[in-house]
Amino acid sequence: MIRQFTTKRDIVRAFANTMNLVNPELQDHHEKVSYLAYRLAEALGLDEKHRMMAFAGGLLHDIGGVLKQGNTSLTDLEMSAGKVAVVGASILKTFPVTSPFAAIVRESQTPWQRLKKLHADLKAPHQIGQIVHLADAVALLLNEESPVLNQIGQVRQVIRSGGETEFSPEVLSAFDSLCSREAVWMDMLYRPQFFLDLMTDDRWITLDETLILTEFMSKIIDFRSPFTAMHSAGVAASAVALAELSGMSEDECKVMRIAGHLHDLGKLKIPNEILDKPGKLTDEEFNIMKEHAYYTWVLLKDVRGFGQVSTWAALHHEKLNGNGYPFHLTEAELSLGSRIMTVADIFSALTEERPYRKSMGKEKVTAILRENAQNGLLSGSVVDLLVEHYDEINERRAIESKKASRKYQEILARKEQE
Ligand SMILES: [Fe+2]
Ligand SMILES: [Fe+2]
Repeated sequence: MIRQFTTKRDIVRAFANTMNLVNPELQDHHEKVSYLAYRLAEALGLDEKHRMMAFAGGLLHDIGGVLKQGNTSLTDLEMSAGKVAVVGASILKTFPVTSPFAAIVRESQTPWQRLKKLHADLKAPHQIGQIVHLADAVALLLNEESPVLNQIGQVRQVIRSGGETEFSPEVLSAFDSLCSREAVWMDMLYRPQFFLDLMTDDRWITLDETLILTEFMSKIIDFRSPFTAMHSAGVAASAVALAELSGMSEDECKVMRIAGHLHDLGKLKIPNEILDKPGKLTDEEFNIMKEHAYYTWVLLKDVRGFGQVSTWAALHHEKLNGNGYPFHLTEAELSLGSRIMTVADIFSALTEERPYRKSMGKEKVTAILRENAQNGLLSGSVVDLLVEHYDEINERRAIESKKASRKYQEILARKEQE
């Protein structure tokens, strides 16, 4: 029997929370857009499959924003929405699991006037692009400070004033029909997490499916900065190699790959100025940097089935002597999986090039790891295993890193073309 690992709903929730970390100014924005896009698709009489496409389009429409430098603010997004959509579409196109949504995201910022010249009959995915476009506009117009039902009139007026330049007549009339449904508006502003209830295609997914979805999530972290564009891939490959050599089962090795992909998920909260700083961080900056491991934990801990994933991923800066962060766990509390991740993370970081230094060679890396083991920071047995199989592990790391870096370059090249 194939083992069910977690649910789609849990992954979607973790993804939405991740997007909230990237754009703190846009708290709950993707939930609102996703929710309203689904409701619009429903009002238009689209079938369940297409409603779910609208839902996914709402969730993914800003993904291109992660390729920008620094945290994306509301103003940035409004100013360069077109570009974000184009970049987003090219990121989504790179992954089989997200490629069906690329066209939706690409058209999610295209005004109706232009879209209708490109596509005379408004069918999916262009129609869904229009739906997401309108849902996005509405979500940006709502303000958290005043009661939502008092805002409907104003929002409707602004949307209507764009008239048929911005939105297609049929999407506008679907929107009109939602304006009288109070619950829709209260769900959106007061209970954005209700968007998850719309996931009628929620189901348990296997370990392999989870692996595919989390690989996509890891790219959002990596693609924020050229210096980390291959880090998660390298850590995952090294950690899996160490897990295999430690005698972990095939399933455990897959869990290790997922944890490796996601170990730095919390870095999405850290500004690029700190992530890419060409030099030593100040104490204040290092304190901010430390938050990332904590946020990896926050994002993953409630995902069903992720008990091992969350601990193996989030504890990668803990040290056996209790001097790590953020929990200061000690030897007795750190499982083999977490110890492996810590070694894999340091090993990958040292062998990668950074803004402030070149990559290190075998001798130097081995010496640093051995010293850390002797000082009671790293597991001696895991370090021994790595040193013993250094060339093999390093080759596997390099192959995965190169693959990830090629993907990143591909997306950058497409971005330049546009
Ligand atoms: Fe980290
Ligand atoms: Fe890392």
